[in-house]
Amino acid sequence: MGNYDACRDVSILSVEPVGPEGAAKGCYMLTLANPGFSPAVAGQFVMVRPRAFQQNPVWPRPFSICRLTAEALTLFVQVCGRGTEILCRLVPGDTATVWGPLGQGFALEPEVPTVMLAGGVGIAPFVEYAAGHPSPEHLSLVFGHRLPLSCYPFDAFSGLKSAEAFQEKGPDDLAAFIAHLETTIAGHADGLVLACGPRPFLVTVARLARKYSVRAQVSLENRMACGVGGCLGCVEKNVLGSYVQTCTQGPVFWVEELALSEES
Ligand SMILES: Cc1cc2nc3c(=O)[nH]c(=O)nc-3n(C[C@H](O)[C@H](O)[C@H](O)COP(=O)(O)OP(=O)(O)OC[C@H]3O[C@@H](n4cnc5c(N)ncnc54)[C@H](O)[C@@H]3O)c2cc1C
Ligand code: FES
Repeated sequence: MGNYDACRDVSILSVEPVGPEGAAKGCYMLTLANPGFSPAVAGQFVMVRPRAFQQNPVWPRPFSICRLTAEALTLFVQVCGRGTEILCRLVPGDTATVWGPLGQGFALEPEVPTVMLAGGVGIAPFVEYAAGHPSPEHLSLVFGHRLPLSCYPFDAFSGLKSAEAFQEKGPDDLAAFIAHLETTIAGHADGLVLACGPRPFLVTVARLARKYSVRAQVSLENRMACGVGGCLGCVEKNVLGSYVQTCTQGPVFWVEELALSEES
């Protein structure tokens, strides 16, 4: 599915903060010229290395395709370390080397009731998923987040069957959110559950999907160096006790394929 020919230097078109949080832990929409990708499957990702990385950091960074049009590739990036900090300080006209689209995306079953479960920046691939879904009346979103809702592209989901957001401010909120996840997953016994977010969130989703025998996919955000199967930096344990490469065989997996646990 990957298109490794599309490894190009492209221009940054815009870098826009989303919401009020600012540079320290803020979120940004980073829009680049389309590197020559044909349509991608939502859930696929790209590797990005701007010139500004120089020798530190050395490796590129992986990001979900948040939106892809003929002209532009948009990424939704939360600042959490040196690489993302540099990326979100780029200005229009700077260049970055980008390769992709990489990996396996989410299943699309237009007539099946589908719920997207997103945690934090895990909302990114669902923007593209919702935009490309032919039957939005079958599609819903449950979104858990810590930063204010205005820091996320939540408005992109207004045309769906439903879109619910839950802000986690303390331990009680987390317990209530998990209870809501359980009700939601139990209510999709004949449907499809798709999840992207922090690992503990995905572990919970996987546990609940198994409990209610619901078909579910999770998108893993393991650390990656090459993104194309060369470095073995991204491996994940499967149910057979061996390892799969998240970059080429994922990042989206059916829950029953993985022995998903808190440790990576
Ligand atoms: C397939 C895939 C898709 C992704 N999509 C997005 C996206 O759409 N938007 C987005 O903001 N981020 C996304 N990420 C995570 C993003 O790649 C990391 O946040 C980024 O690489 C961190 O780089 P850094 O140099 O800023 O942080 P570093 O200095 O490398 O690390 C700083 C902190 O971030 C943590 N961290 C680093 N890499 C990851 C990671 N891969 N996942 C979780 N935590 C990490 C580290 O443990 C450390 O605590 C994705 C990751 C993968 C594998
Ligand atoms: S990131 Fe290099 S093998 Fe997956």
